[in-house]
Amino acid sequence: MKIAIILGTRPEITKMAPLIKIYQENRADYFILHTGQHYSYQMDKVFFDQLKLPQPKYNIDVGSSSHGEQTGKMLIGIEKILLKEKPDVVLVEGDTNSVLAGALAAAKLGIRVGHVESGLRSYDRAMPEELNRLLADHIADYLFAPTPKSKQILLGEGIDEKKVFVTGNTIVDSIFQNLELAKSGKDVLGELKLKPKRYFLVTLHRQENVDNAARFGSILQGLGRIAQKYKLPVVYPIHPRSRKMMDHFKLKPENLTLIEPVDFLAFLQLENGARLILTDSGGVQEEACILGVPCVTLRDNTERPETLELGSNMLAGADAERILECAEIMLDKKGKWDNPFGDGKAAARIAKIIAEAENG
Ligand code: UD1
Ligand code: UDP
Repeated sequence: MKIAIILGTRPEITKMAPLIKIYQENRADYFILHTGQHYSYQMDKVFFDQLKLPQPKYNIDVGSSSHGEQTGKMLIGIEKILLKEKPDVVLVEGDTNSVLAGALAAAKLGIRVGHVESGLRSYDRAMPEELNRLLADHIADYLFAPTPKSKQILLGEGIDEKKVFVTGNTIVDSIFQNLELAKSGKDVLGELKLKPKRYFLVTLHRQENVDNAARFGSILQGLGRIAQKYKLPVVYPIHPRSRKMMDHFKLKPENLTLIEPVDFLAFLQLENGARLILTDSGGVQEEACILGVPCVTLRDNTERPETLELGSNMLAGADAERILECAEIMLDKKGKWDNPFGDGKAAARIAKIIAEAENG
């Protein structure tokens, strides 16, 4: 059995890492195909280096462009490699354009597709990610749902139960494998002159937030007011899309500590030490919940409803006043909730399910 792991962006690397490690340790017949959707050192290579992942066998270097052009280039590049390598199974993770292109190129060639982190829905089709995950789920042969709720969503859409497996989310594996390493590594808080539980951590990069001047401006205003009210630093490792749009809209955030995107171990330390996390990231909502750090989501919806039900997370949208209100509520939380995303053995489960199904 030959496996192709297709990935292209930061979250796909942090979430595929546990599975790659298993295939590497087992000397499995597999290879990594990188689409090149993310390419800046801090968004890409730093994760391969730090997590000691083997370099991708292929990188098709699609770079940044419009959705259609980027996805189209990926389809062309991926198809050529799949035709040459003839893997039995292609694995993709999450909801990016790389996931859609990988799943679609494979399915059209009759190669079986495994979708890791399947069954997430925001029910907001204006999000590019919602289309990507819907399409990937409906062409996949193996659907690895992180939670029972995501499985139910898939069954509700008429997907055959035999294809759906509840495995947990591989981000739990990644956190369990790296948190102690992160804590014992370089003193990121010290370097940034931060004290544990005496700062807020922000990430903000969703297209619907940062490509909209009014929304982006309103969120930055809310964050600045939080810094003022609580007299604590608000640290924002800024995604390159957001940096570009901030310059484009000539937004001048006040009271925020902007830093470059950081590596995974540094980011885990920052998350773990934060008093509160404010984010529009999917993965960061999960990580906050797993680490027991309260979270305010700077969106109107989430495909991680488990976090809302547990009370680890609240939806604030983009209104400055509402962001302040939600921060106040979440600051009262003690961080005591169960982790709904699994036991840290998701990757092993996924590898086993595929091996058993493929080898008969
Ligand atoms: C993509 C995913 C999003 C995911 C995010 C993870 C899609 C539709 N979006 O969004 O779901 O949450 O990755 O971070 O697939 N750029 C750089 N260097 C890079 C990559 C991007 O400077 O390495 C800049 C470019 O200006 C580019 C912009 O960021 O135009 C957006 O990049 P793109 O990959 O299109 O989308 P993301 O916002 O990163
Ligand atoms: N992350 C990181 N450094 C940062 C910001 C995020 O290592 O400066 C990691 C984070 O721990 C998580 C992943 O990147 O594993 C999330 O990526 P992102 O928020 O870009 O994408 P999303 O999850 O929204 O698709």
